[in-house]
Amino acid sequence: MAEPIRVVVTGAAGQIAYSLLYMIARGEVFGKDQPLILHLLDIPPMVGVLEGVVMELADCALPLLREVVPTTDPLVGFKDVSAAFLVGAMPRKEGMERKDLLSANVKIFKVQGEALDKVAKKDVKVLVVGNPANTNALVCSNYAPSIPKENFSAMTRLDQNRAASQLANKMGVPITSVSNVIIWGNHSSTQYPDASQGTILINGEWKPIAQAVNDNAYLQGSFIETVQKRGAAVIGARKMSSAMSAAKAACDHMHDWWNGTAPGKFVSMGVFSDGSYGSPKGVVFSFPVEIKNKQWKIVDNLPITDFAKGKLNVTGTELQEEKDEAMSVLDSN
Ligand SMILES: NC(=O)c1ccc[n+]([C@@H]2O[C@H](COP(=O)([O-])OP(=O)(O)OC[C@H]3O[C@@H](n4cnc5c(N)ncnc54)[C@H](O)[C@@H]3O)[C@@H](O)[C@H]2O)c1
Repeated sequence: MAEPIRVVVTGAAGQIAYSLLYMIARGEVFGKDQPLILHLLDIPPMVGVLEGVVMELADCALPLLREVVPTTDPLVGFKDVSAAFLVGAMPRKEGMERKDLLSANVKIFKVQGEALDKVAKKDVKVLVVGNPANTNALVCSNYAPSIPKENFSAMTRLDQNRAASQLANKMGVPITSVSNVIIWGNHSSTQYPDASQGTILINGEWKPIAQAVNDNAYLQGSFIETVQKRGAAVIGARKMSSAMSAAKAACDHMHDWWNGTAPGKFVSMGVFSDGSYGSPKGVVFSFPVEIKNKQWKIVDNLPITDFAKGKLNVTGTELQEEKDEAMSVLDSN
């Protein structure tokens, strides 16, 4: 058996982590032969809850789980980790402006970036789930200059899974029959869920989704809106935000980063923009990526319609504004 690797989950006493920790410790991300030491980072008021999570992990009797390290100290939490799931964040409270939310989170992700820089492995893969995920990833990377920028990403996989699931449901096919649906831009309501490059397996044949669905009004209308507003719909029904599906998406994201994507398949990840597809350079923007040897590469040369350009522009502008606001908060501190 391989040597254990250290993996940290922040916000470890929260609801996403409650599903995520179990999935990771079962071997669903790093493989069924990869032993793990799980680091659980949260804040001091959550120490009691964290103790309960540690007890439950022990009671799961999971063969791959060699040790659990609960802590409230980022320097302990990030020590020697190979992978980091940054789930913990300051939630938006009623009446909170975007700037206030950004301001609270910028402080958290600055501290975590500095700690990663000091004590994590230099090839650590960092996945930011806590919102605003794209800009939090940018801030975190900014404070970890010794770790390559390519090692920071933000999660839009939940949006991708939601989009694929909508299409599978509409066409009456299993989820495995839907491929290459893209989420562009921000993990926010400006994101652009795009089915135009995707394919769907119908009667044994892979067809372009646009051709199979044959309903442009739907693909450019209620399909996009349903995905953009799915998080709010779950809160409306459950009175709590998406947690199980967010945890599954975080596993999918890290699994594909770790293990690679199949030839011809791509997945969506928020990564540093090089200006591809007219996006603002230097923001963390969700693109379709292919992954090999743990390195992602933006899929290039996809055809972009005027409709898509308009959508990319809206979400890119929002990310640029978030970046500017985050930087102004940092400058004033
Ligand atoms: N990117 C996505 O697709 C996506 C999807 C769903 C939720 N989210 C976001 O994920 C985050 C977590 O969601 P949740 O439902 O688990 O929330 P939650 O409130 O149940 O848990 C958050 C946990 O983070 C902890 N925390 C806060 N500040 C921390 C810090 N500085 N260090 C370590 N831990 C800290 C809290 O104490 C809490 O235990 C939220 O920001 C939510 O908006 C993102």
